[in-house]
Amino acid sequence: MAAILASLLCLAQNKTPRLGESNIDEIIQELTLREKACLVVGSGLGNMLDIRMMSSEPVKVSGAAGTTRSVERLGIPSIVLSDGPAGVRIKPGRKNHFCTGFPVGSLLACSWDTETVEAVGAAMGNEALEYGVDVILAPGMNLMRNPLCGRNFEYYSEDPYLSGKIASAFVRGVQSQGVGTSVKHFAVNSQETNRLGNNAIVDEETLRELYLKGFEIVVKEAQPWTVMSSYNKLNGEYTQESRWLLTEVLREEWGFEGLVVSDWTFMRNTVAQIAAGNDLLEPGLKKQINQIVRKVRKGELDESQLDICVRRVLELVVKTPTFKNYEYSNAPDLKVHAAVARTAASDGMVLLENRDALPMEEVRNIALFGCASYELIPGGTGSGNVNRPYVVNLSDGLVNAGYRLDGQLSSIYKKYMSKKSNRRKGYVMVGQSAWSEMSVDVETVRSAAASDDMAILTLSRQAGEGQDRAVEDDFKLNPTEHQLIEDVCREFHAVGKKVVVVLNVGGVIETASWKHLPDAVLLAWQPGQEGGNAIVDVLSGKVNPSGRLSMTWPLDYSDVPSSADFPAGETTNSAAVSTAMLGGSKDKGRRNIDYTEYREGLNVGYRYFGLEGLNVSYPFGYGLSYTTFSQELSSAADGSKAVRVTNTGSIPGREVVMLYEEGILVSFGKTRLLAPGESQIVRLL
Ligand code: BGC
Repeated sequence: MAAILASLLCLAQNKTPRLGESNIDEIIQELTLREKACLVVGSGLGNMLDIRMMSSEPVKVSGAAGTTRSVERLGIPSIVLSDGPAGVRIKPGRKNHFCTGFPVGSLLACSWDTETVEAVGAAMGNEALEYGVDVILAPGMNLMRNPLCGRNFEYYSEDPYLSGKIASAFVRGVQSQGVGTSVKHFAVNSQETNRLGNNAIVDEETLRELYLKGFEIVVKEAQPWTVMSSYNKLNGEYTQESRWLLTEVLREEWGFEGLVVSDWTFMRNTVAQIAAGNDLLEPGLKKQINQIVRKVRKGELDESQLDICVRRVLELVVKTPTFKNYEYSNAPDLKVHAAVARTAASDGMVLLENRDALPMEEVRNIALFGCASYELIPGGTGSGNVNRPYVVNLSDGLVNAGYRLDGQLSSIYKKYMSKKSNRRKGYVMVGQSAWSEMSVDVETVRSAAASDDMAILTLSRQAGEGQDRAVEDDFKLNPTEHQLIEDVCREFHAVGKKVVVVLNVGGVIETASWKHLPDAVLLAWQPGQEGGNAIVDVLSGKVNPSGRLSMTWPLDYSDVPSSADFPAGETTNSAAVSTAMLGGSKDKGRRNIDYTEYREGLNVGYRYFGLEGLNVSYPFGYGLSYTTFSQELSSAADGSKAVRVTNTGSIPGREVVMLYEEGILVSFGKTRLLAPGESQIVRLL
């Protein structure tokens, strides 16, 4: 009897296979047409909005951007996709499921330190794993074509080689935890204005040499589990519908083995998306499922094309922690990860000016100016925002390190910042806007100069998804900011005291008109939740700065070759919101909105300005240290190159080595901390 029961059970099991790593073909055979369509369409916005009704799946991780659909009878679970790139973006909820706020992408790239970036990726991957997330929607790695792109803070560089290498390190880090990545936004999503409708017009040489190159490097080097197709059109075709881009280039030429997920778009031409090899449509609408079923039945979509996408979804699913029934703890080690965030933050900060002001010596009482000194901007807005457990402000960081703050100034700022109306106005998708800078009367500045040892003045900028930055009062400083710098520098210098400006920004700003005024300028970027501590690590000399710019800082916006072919303030706030949410505005043929010509071609960043820095404020690769180094290049018989770096100064420090061929970056490396007199050989290409 028992034997008969067992064989019946076995028969039943054989009839409905369950998904495993080696039976994907069999599962595809078993799936009904509707089930197949369900698998390539996300389950809706339920997790993101934490509303069960908005999704075909239960809310598993509140605040996660999306999930796939399950097919329970075949053992196919729903997997969870969650944003990055500066941390895992989920909602903490009542159980306090916070995620570490790491520094933004631009800072990470300025570290030129693939080990640090890999460590950040690993920590982030671990948080995803422990909170039940299967894929992090990061890294963001669009090329920084123009300094005004609203999402540049998420991206790495104006150079595709550096972008590709940093992205590879990030992907390796995350995926070392058994969690996937999504390299985004593929491709040429270099502006936020009308990002769902804009047509980027780029010649093929420029495309391949610049805009695709970084993606090619990361695909070949690190095999990300997924690639995210962008919102925009490329040369007249939506990237999400481009078979040339998603199949011919990405898979056939570069050998990409993973899945392509659409950026969070509602309706495109569904048939074209599937046929192009856009395997997963997120966030997913029922309408798309119905369409796929109907089109296959009508013979307008080849079922074999659908099967290809289904296969890739299943191949992704079987790799995930969810499929492997990983029992996540909801308790990653946030303390350890905070330490990773702090180290990474100081690693990527760039010392732009230093006239005997830093590291701070014999400084105890500090006059702290600028709203962002008291409320640091840890990261940008939009999907790149992170629900962090806390933010260490610069004021906190100074106190933590034993400095004393000017109490009168602190209370003036506190009062000003208690009024929400003093925040900058404007569109913010998710996250917090910056403060409108407060003017400080000269008497107050003078009395601070008399009683304090030094002044630190923080300037800040905020930007994010759905809108590009403006030239006035964003790229350029506004009159209040200029006045503040002038007054503080004049009054402190009058009594022989130093002034340090800290830039708490997500993108490039104008520096040429004022950088000679303070004694030092530290580019701290948006440094994540440990930012205040990390800034003080550098100011105090606990960490010797070793960041180098991953993008050029021009003298003036009009110097940028793409400045005439980039939207500068054309988008109104409401247009930004509607285009962000509704799938692009109607094409009215508006230059730089509906279409953008990449007329500058290869003339992006240092490829145009050169590396000498003659006509720029700070060139690509620039950054100061508290020590000095010598570099000696040698070539081996096999053509490989190495550089012997020696610390010729008196303070331990790290140096970045860059190799250029015909003016183009082809290799780089970073030393460990070298003691005075110590050398290290850095191997390059
Ligand atoms: C952004 C992506 C993000 C996605 C999911 C989109 O609006 O462009 O970067 O991953 O939303 O939140």
